[in-house]
Amino acid sequence: MGHVPVLLDEVLSALQPKDGETYVDGTFGGGGYALRVLASAECQLYGIDRDLDAITRAEALAEQHPGLTPLLGRFGEMDDLLSTVGVTVVHGIMLDIGVSSYQIDEGERGFSFMRDGPLDMRMGQTGPSAADVVNLMSASDLMTIFRQLGEERQAKRIASAIVARRKTEPFTTTLDLADCVETAVGGRRGKKTHPATLTFQAIRMYVNDELGELARGLAAAERLLAPGGRLVVVTFHSLEDRLVKQFMRERAGALGGGSRYMPEVAKGPAPSFDLKRRKAIEPGEAETRDNPRARSSRLRVAVRTDAPAWADPVSTGKSVPPLKVLEAAL
Ligand SMILES: C[S@@+](CC[C@H](N)C(=O)[O-])C[C@H]1O[C@@H](n2cnc3c(N)ncnc32)[C@H](O)[C@@H]1O
Repeated sequence: MGHVPVLLDEVLSALQPKDGETYVDGTFGGGGYALRVLASAECQLYGIDRDLDAITRAEALAEQHPGLTPLLGRFGEMDDLLSTVGVTVVHGIMLDIGVSSYQIDEGERGFSFMRDGPLDMRMGQTGPSAADVVNLMSASDLMTIFRQLGEERQAKRIASAIVARRKTEPFTTTLDLADCVETAVGGRRGKKTHPATLTFQAIRMYVNDELGELARGLAAAERLLAPGGRLVVVTFHSLEDRLVKQFMRERAGALGGGSRYMPEVAKGPAPSFDLKRRKAIEPGEAETRDNPRARSSRLRVAVRTDAPAWADPVSTGKSVPPLKVLEAAL
């Protein structure tokens, strides 16, 4: 089955596509958002994805949709990617954070504890895999990752069990890891969710540096958007939503920074975004009934002002061991 886009109508009405404008879909996936945008205006759309499978789909679609240009790469470096095709300013950017159903449903990609497959979890096809993380990192680093990125309460117990088990045999498959985590926490104990859910989430976020990518993507969007340009971000859990909310509120001066109208008396830089609404948009009952994956989705939108992009980097608010340490060990 393909990927059912989440909050599609809401994304469209936040982006407000117009003829002659240029947009970026930083997470092309199955192209659900991109195709709706291309159908609603005579525009140019750059579809970025770090997954070669998604870009292969995009290339096939581009044959019927001349406004679509696929770009393989990470949205965290979207301004560099776009500059390779001569684009330096755009009117709208969409990000739909996380993995697609294509990736989850394909056992070979190693994302799911419900399907057996190699322990991979990389959205792109490079860098350390999930197997490298669980087979090579120290118990204390694993614990930090499970705690920080999974908010897993039993992080210590799970990390110790992984390190004990790999002494006899390294982990190679998803079900192998899922079983180890389940045993470590004493089984399912009547819980609705699998006991390895948060551990898998944490490893996936770590392997793909998802929070780092989001932070860099927001800053890149700030640099690329024209005044009046719309930034539309859909997230699926609280760590990501918090980061987007914090960024938008900070850049809108809602955290006690500068004022667009009185920059000379302001403490910080002039606001680079306007918040059209403070609260996130959530899916309605019908959508969560038809698509349970939509349940935890949140959409936030901000409109670029004419103030310069802030020099301050965007913080993820988390500290996990750098992925580079693992890259060096491989
Ligand atoms: C939830 S899906 C997007 C679905 C899409 N909105 C649709 O309607 O079909 C997320 C996609 O973003 C991609 N992705 C995630 N993080 C990325 C990043 N940092 N840079 C580029 N692509 C990324 C994933 O590979 C995946 O294909």
